[in-house]
Amino acid sequence: MNIAKFKFAILRQKFEELVMVLFEMTKNSNLRFRFLDLAEGSVDRGIWYEKECALRYEVLRKPLGGDHIGKGSELFPFEFQSLHLIAFDDDSNSVTGCVLFHPETQTSGRLFQMAVDHVYQGRGIGTALVTTLLDRLVSEGFLECTLHAREHAVTFYKLLGFVTFGEPFDEVNVPHRHMRIDLLNRNK
Ligand SMILES: CC(C)(COP(=O)(O)OP(=O)(O)OC[C@H]1O[C@@H](n2cnc3c(N)ncnc32)[C@H](O)[C@@H]1OP(=O)(O)O)[C@@H](O)C(=O)NCCC(=O)NCCS
Repeated sequence: MNIAKFKFAILRQKFEELVMVLFEMTKNSNLRFRFLDLAEGSVDRGIWYEKECALRYEVLRKPLGGDHIGKGSELFPFEFQSLHLIAFDDDSNSVTGCVLFHPETQTSGRLFQMAVDHVYQGRGIGTALVTTLLDRLVSEGFLECTLHAREHAVTFYKLLGFVTFGEPFDEVNVPHRHMRIDLLNRNK
């Protein structure tokens, strides 16, 4: 390959990278994140929380079928002692993703109800949600975050720095792994 062709190849590669970056930006251009204030009577509890629960039901419960899809099956007893982060579309005000965190000790707790609307999966929303949540946990002094990962989502969490531990187990009839991340030593 001569020098001119080589330079052209580099330029073309840079251009393709730029197009990809612009594509990513356009895809998620209306994407916003919000930690919900779920105090009784709050605006968030009336509007955003209901949409968050609807998404959790659609993405996490409905596909399970059987006994797991009763009304309110997406709710946890520690719902209002947990941190709720949503991703939403600024144009349509639809909730496109969410993740929750329940503090179990002063320095550790569990991430749960990680869900991205089927239409929006694979666009980096799940990654952005977890990263935003973990940043917040670090700023609040948490040292560790654990979770119960559905087997198919283990790779997703590994890419974010979580590691598996303990034996595989079943929850809601789905194979799961225990995972954790050391918040002081995570790679961003
Ligand atoms: C798992 C889930 C939260 C991922 O969210 P997402 O927004 O689609 O993920 P991202 O676009 O941020 O993907 C980040 C990376 O994880 C990978 N990934 C995402 N979902 C994956 C899956 N199910 N299996 C393997 N890899 C996956 C992506 O390929 C991507 O890798 P890349 O950066 O090398 O391309 C989402 O697919 C989902 O809601 N699934 C159904 C509900 C669920 O299983 N929740 C987890 C319960 S433990």
